Amino acid sequence: MNMTKPNAKPPLLCSSLLFLLQFFHSSSQKTCPNCGSLEVPYPLSTNPDCGDPDYTIRCDPLSHKLYFDALNGSSYLILRITPSSHRMVVQPSPWLPGTCVTQDMPVSEGLWLNQTLPFNVTSSNTIFLFNCSPRLVISPLNCTLSSLCHRYLDSSGYVDKKRALQCASGLDPCCTFLAGGTPSAYKIRLHSSGCRSFRSILHLDPQKKPNQWEEGLEIQWASPPEPPCKTHLDCFGASKCIPAGGTDVFRCLCKKGYYWNSGLCTCSRKKNPKSGLTLKVSIGVVSFCTLVVVMAAIAVRKSVQFSKRSKLAKAREDMLKSSNSGKSSTMFSLKVVKKATNGFSRDRILGSGGFGEVYKGELHDGTVVAVKLAKVGDIKSTQQVLNEVGILSQAIDFSRDEDDVNLAAYVIQRANGGSIMEVVDRQLLGEEPPVKETTSVKLFSELALACLREKKGDRPSMKDVVQELQLIKEMVEQQEVSNEVSSEII
Ligand SMILES: *[C@@H]1O[C@H](CO)[C@@H](O)[C@H](O)[C@H]1NC(C)=O
Ligand SMILES: *[C@@H]1O[C@H](CO)[C@@H](O)[C@H](O)[C@H]1NC(C)=O
Ligand SMILES: *[C@@H]1O[C@H](CO)[C@@H](O)[C@H](O)[C@H]1NC(C)=O
Ligand SMILES: *[C@@H]1O[C@H](CO)[C@@H](O)[C@H](O)[C@H]1NC(C)=O
Repeated sequence: MNMTKPNAKPPLLCSSLLFLLQFFHSSSQKTCPNCGSLEVPYPLSTNPDCGDPDYTIRCDPLSHKLYFDALNGSSYLILRITPSSHRMVVQPSPWLPGTCVTQDMPVSEGLWLNQTLPFNVTSSNTIFLFNCSPRLVISPLNCTLSSLCHRYLDSSGYVDKKRALQCASGLDPCCTFLAGGTPSAYKIRLHSSGCRSFRSILHLDPQKKPNQWEEGLEIQWASPPEPPCKTHLDCFGASKCIPAGGTDVFRCLCKKGYYWNSGLCTCSRKKNPKSGLTLKVSIGVVSFCTLVVVMAAIAVRKSVQFSKRSKLAKAREDMLKSSNSGKSSTMFSLKVVKKATNGFSRDRILGSGGFGEVYKGELHDGTVVAVKLAKVGDIKSTQQVLNEVGILSQAIDFSRDEDDVNLAAYVIQRANGGSIMEVVDRQLLGEEPPVKETTSVKLFSELALACLREKKGDRPSMKDVVQELQLIKEMVEQQEVSNEVSSEII
């Protein structure tokens, strides 16, 4: 049984995925030009010739600012867009002078989204409603005196004293709720007999001081369907420009035998059901034969196993030493490892790979360790695990400072300190790396760090990683194009 410090495996996985990038095709989507200096990522659309018309936002030609238009005439200034997570943050409507009423209250009775469009309000928003009617006190909203909206008014610094008094005073409560359910994913209603203004905080943490709460309303959009087109020339790969779903919009729909892969934004080949069946049959046959062979092998092995066992342990130790460029490794007995992982308790599982499961353990001296359990009776997986241990022990370098011995810890610390470029080999980038390179290194390292999170559920899935890589690639390419354009103008 072998061990290394935890957190060392996921970055290897992620980094090998980075190479997959090279193989993605170009796609048919048309990204909109920048609005002033602001990027308009696909599928967002500022005019009918680019982006996807269902994802329309507005570029104000005078101010060069982006606006999100909601129903009934209200517009919200877009503060930032995060294409990788399909989200943007807008600013809630400005106050009307000298009152606790916002502009969107008389215009549209608050924020209403068109439910047939792909946008909705995320559950990262904590909404504060102000200037409410007393009858709301008995409601599913939290309108009590301890409600967080009072802390926002009193000590966030976002609202002046006079307005704060108007927003919640005497009988008129303010109320708090978490957006993102129905109907609040599509509607934050203001009303003369309800509440007359609202504000939103992103990822509210009640432990933090209110002046550190971030204002803004986060809106997400659904993964885009096939890109719109005018002629076949607009479409690449296995797609054709044809009318989509009985509407007058033409889209690059996938050809027969292909399906729309919204994660990769391309047409992917469907699995042939017939060959699927043959595959299943042959898998069945193969697994039956394997079972017979394995059972026979186990029977034979049992008799010779005992004498072989000590030989095998020796062989593994040698193998580890050789893959570890001669560095010595500590060998732990099964008993110690069992104790560290509470008998390979299921609640200690950090993740599982093709060759076995990884457990979180704690040695008697308190050192936290990751334990990888090779699949029983599978020589290949044992070898794989030994190889990994060899590679990973190189990620642990005792010549570095005590706090930096573990490569993962070393990188995380540099990333948090904003100096991630320090961990990149200078020879790869040259003395003055181009912006494109530094941006992509930063984005990739963010993704790699997400793969380092301790809980399995917090780490991105393979699919997420691939999707994210694709988006980063697009973003970087877009940046490149816009850089070229701007340098041509100069
Ligand atoms: C806003 O628009 C929606 C959809 O057209 C409509 O149902 C709603 O009544 C409108 N609200 C107001 C206050 O006009
Ligand atoms: C909502 O969006 C659909 C699709 O674009 C559009 O046909 C419809 O008119 C919109 N509804 C309103 C009330 O604007
Ligand atoms: C209202 O929110 C406060 C602060 O989060 C909490 O302490 C209180 O229990 C909530 N009250 C209700 C009725 O939900
Ligand atoms: C909001 O949009 C996301 C992404 O399209 C979707 O998964 C989610 O179900 C929507 N939420 C509601 C309440 O409709």
